[in-house]
Amino acid sequence: MKVLIAGGAGFLGSYLAERFVADGHNVHILDNFVSGLKGNIENIRDRITLLEDDVTAFRTDERYDIVVNFASRASRVEWEKHPVDVALSNAVGSKNLIEVALRCNALYVYASSSEVYGDPKVIPTPEDYVGCVSTTGSRSPYDEGKRFGDALTKAYERQYGLRNIIIRFFNTYGPRMRGGDFYGRVVDRFVNQAINNEPITVYGDGSQTRSFTYVSDTIEGVMTAITRGKEGEVYNIGNDSETRIVDLAKLIKKLTKSSSEVRFKDLPENDPKRRAADIAKMRKLGWEPEIPLEEGITNIITSKSKE
Ligand SMILES: NC(=O)c1ccc[n+]([C@@H]2O[C@H](COP(=O)([O-])OP(=O)(O)OC[C@H]3O[C@@H](n4cnc5c(N)ncnc54)[C@H](O)[C@@H]3O)[C@@H](O)[C@H]2O)c1
Repeated sequence: MKVLIAGGAGFLGSYLAERFVADGHNVHILDNFVSGLKGNIENIRDRITLLEDDVTAFRTDERYDIVVNFASRASRVEWEKHPVDVALSNAVGSKNLIEVALRCNALYVYASSSEVYGDPKVIPTPEDYVGCVSTTGSRSPYDEGKRFGDALTKAYERQYGLRNIIIRFFNTYGPRMRGGDFYGRVVDRFVNQAINNEPITVYGDGSQTRSFTYVSDTIEGVMTAITRGKEGEVYNIGNDSETRIVDLAKLIKKLTKSSSEVRFKDLPENDPKRRAADIAKMRKLGWEPEIPLEEGITNIITSKSKE
C-alpha cells in the first residue's frame, strides 16, 4: 500500500512510519519540521519519500491507500507559543489531507486527542463523552482545533462518504518525545530535570492525574484500529489507569537516582484535573496497553544515557 503520513517526522509519526516500512509499504512523509526532527527518520530515510511542506499549503496529485494526519504541534508549551499555527494545522491541514484521501478513496486516519474531552466529568472517559472545553481559553487552539478536525472528518463522511478512523490519543511517552523548555511534555521534562539534578517542576499540587501509554503500545493500537477497526468509528488509545503527576515526579526521581527536589508552581489555566481513557472499544479489537510505567520510563532513561 502507498501510505502518506503527515507529521511523520514527529514522535508518534516516525514510529508509525517505521512500522509501515517494516511491513513493506510505500511510505511518504509530509512534514515541515516545526516540532519533528530529521534524526527521527534517519534510519528509514532511504526507504521513504520525504515531502517537506506545510500541511496547510499541501497539494498533491499522488494516489494513496491510507492518509494519516498527525501534523500538529502537540504540547501545551507549543500551543501557547504558536496558537494560530496549531489551530490552522488541525483545521486547514485537515481539509487538505481529507481532500487527498477523498480523491483516492483512501482511508483517512486522524490523530485526535483526549484534549477534545477538556476537563471531563466522566472518568475513565469513553469516546461518546461530549466534552467540557473552553472555546476561548489558552488551550482552545489545540482543543478546539482537534474538535474541529473530528467534526470536519465526520462532515466529509456524511456528505461525501469519506472513509475514516478517528484516533484519540491520551498521553503517550517514550524515546524521541521532546520535553525541553520549548516542547514541554511532562515525562521527558521530568526525566531531563531529574538527570540534571535540577528541580522537578510540578504544576499545582500535583494531584491532577494523567494516563500514560508507552509508544510501542500506542503504535500497536494505531495498527489495530487501522487493520481491525470499523471505518467511521472513534477509538481512544490510552490507558485506564491514572497516575498523579506528583507520583510521576517521585517515580522518575527514584528511577534516575536523582537528588532533585520536587518544586511546585502555579497550575496553568484550564488544566484538566483527571484523565483516564475508557478503552473498552479498543479491547474489543484485542488491543490492550502492556508496558508498565516503570519499564517505559526506564527505557527513556536508558535511551538518554546513550545519547
Ligand atoms: N503524543 C501524545 O501523547 C499525543 C496525545 C494526543 C494527541 N496527539 C496527536 O498525535 C499527533 C502526533 O503527535 P506527536 O506526539 O508525534 O507530536 P510531534 O510534535 O512530535 O509530531 C508532530 C509532527 O507534525 C509536524 N507538523 C506540525 N505542524 C505541521 C504543519 N503545519 N505542516 C506539516 N507538518 C507539521 C511536526 O514537525 C512534527 O513532525 C499530533 O496530531 C498530536 O496532536 C499526540
